Amino acid sequence: MNIIRFERINSTQDYAKEHISSFTEPTIIIAKEQTEGKGRYGRRFLSPEGGLYLSFIIELDFPSLNIVAPLGIAESLSRIGIETKILWPNDIIYKGKKIGGVIIERIDKKIIIGIGINCNNRIDDFDEYLRENITTIYEIKKEKIDIEELGISIVEQILYLMKDYEFLKDLYERRMEGIGKKVKIIKDDGEEIKGIIKGINENGELILRNNDNKSIVVISAKKLILPD
Ligand code: BTN
Repeated sequence: MNIIRFERINSTQDYAKEHISSFTEPTIIIAKEQTEGKGRYGRRFLSPEGGLYLSFIIELDFPSLNIVAPLGIAESLSRIGIETKILWPNDIIYKGKKIGGVIIERIDKKIIIGIGINCNNRIDDFDEYLRENITTIYEIKKEKIDIEELGISIVEQILYLMKDYEFLKDLYERRMEGIGKKVKIIKDDGEEIKGIIKGINENGELILRNNDNKSIVVISAKKLILPD
């Protein structure tokens, strides 16, 4: 596997997109710091030094990437003793606080999986308004980890899970934050829906049960709000 390393970059995801045609084999772009890290829906992803900021580019056609990418992260974190949940579709949550996230983008036949995890940084490295809702590996374990090693283990785990996709839905649901609980969803067009989280379907879409006991399939959403 090809690895391209940066001390500091605007965004590994943007770099991957700008140079997409040059990647002729699976490639990892990893940076120690990002100045313009991107989250889903064009949100900022604060990326101070100490975090894992990685984009993995691979040419493949796999239907359940939305399932496999967050699951690969959660399984890898579990190997270093951190048991996380997945807030659909792809936020990684430790005891109710966000520890990382993943964004999946496609250009032509290539996919770019952007992974951001708060690793060796402390809560104080983040803007004050975020501190209540996030955590880092260091805050949990009180010790530093090898960030690149975690990144490579996540990519390997994602590739491994793709081979064993029969059980992906179950594995994902076992790790799902808020399963069986009430949730409010803000859809892409701003519409709000309420229901109980039942799980996901084979495509990684969210299944809710509404007040009339009907199943609702949510394909994408800007925000999920769980009760405290
Ligand atoms: C999210 O939580 O909304 C997804 C966050 C994805 C962040 C990663 S960090 C590496 C890659 N480069 C970016 O600019 N974004 C992704």
